[in-house]
Amino acid sequence: FGRQIHVMDVVKTTQDEVRALAEQDAVEGTLVIAEEQTVGRGRQGRKWYSPSGKGIWMSMLLKPRQPIAFAAQLTLLTAVGVCRALRKATGVDVGIKWPNDLLIEGRKLCGILVESISEDELLKYCIVGIGIDVNQQLEDIPEEIRSVATSLRIESDSKQDRTLLIAEILYELEQLYNLYNEEGFAPIGHLWEALSVTIGRQVLIRTPQGESSGIAIGLDPSGALLITDQHGQERTIYSGEIQLDRI
Ligand code: BTN
Repeated sequence: FGRQIHVMDVVKTTQDEVRALAEQDAVEGTLVIAEEQTVGRGRQGRKWYSPSGKGIWMSMLLKPRQPIAFAAQLTLLTAVGVCRALRKATGVDVGIKWPNDLLIEGRKLCGILVESISEDELLKYCIVGIGIDVNQQLEDIPEEIRSVATSLRIESDSKQDRTLLIAEILYELEQLYNLYNEEGFAPIGHLWEALSVTIGRQVLIRTPQGESSGIAIGLDPSGALLITDQHGQERTIYSGEIQLDRI
């Protein structure tokens, strides 16, 4: 991954830059990294705050040639890769909140957004967006999100080298992607569960169908979240937002 890297200064969003390259037949693994995004986007139509020079704002092109459902597994795979890379490079105790937020002690420092384009029931390509708050200090974090957001610098007490982190992330993602192609999702699912801060916790889940609560017990073979609800019934959650109850 990352053998074709486009480093840009200010862009609207690296997602659209990769999309434009994909439409011109860019190779798998093509990466766009920006210093700043003016219209960074998050999941579910949210805005992703991407100040200049403080974080890692990057998107990568993948062409998995898999059924559409693979895109959900790809988000879990990406969370595992980035989580492993950040732990290895900085020693901070990063965990994964389902499906793909990275947290340290309940505060978010990385979000992942996978957007996919499909053709005849197969994925044509996926754009894997990764946003990591790296070198923000407390005063750089907007006040309204200070209780829920953090950065690697705040958590590790030292300024981090973004290039090194990116290299580590690309290495981990490539290993996991190869593992996925050889052995399927099961080993990735186990790695995800081991790094998860969701499993074993009481969770509140918001889906388009409404809210429900229960205890998260694991992933099913497709990557969906399994919970035991308040009536002791096992339920499968394919998408939604969860809130972890504080311990
Ligand atoms: C989320 O947690 O809601 C996902 C955030 C994803 C942000 C990254 S930053 C690089 C790429 N470009 C974007 O506009 N979004 C993703």
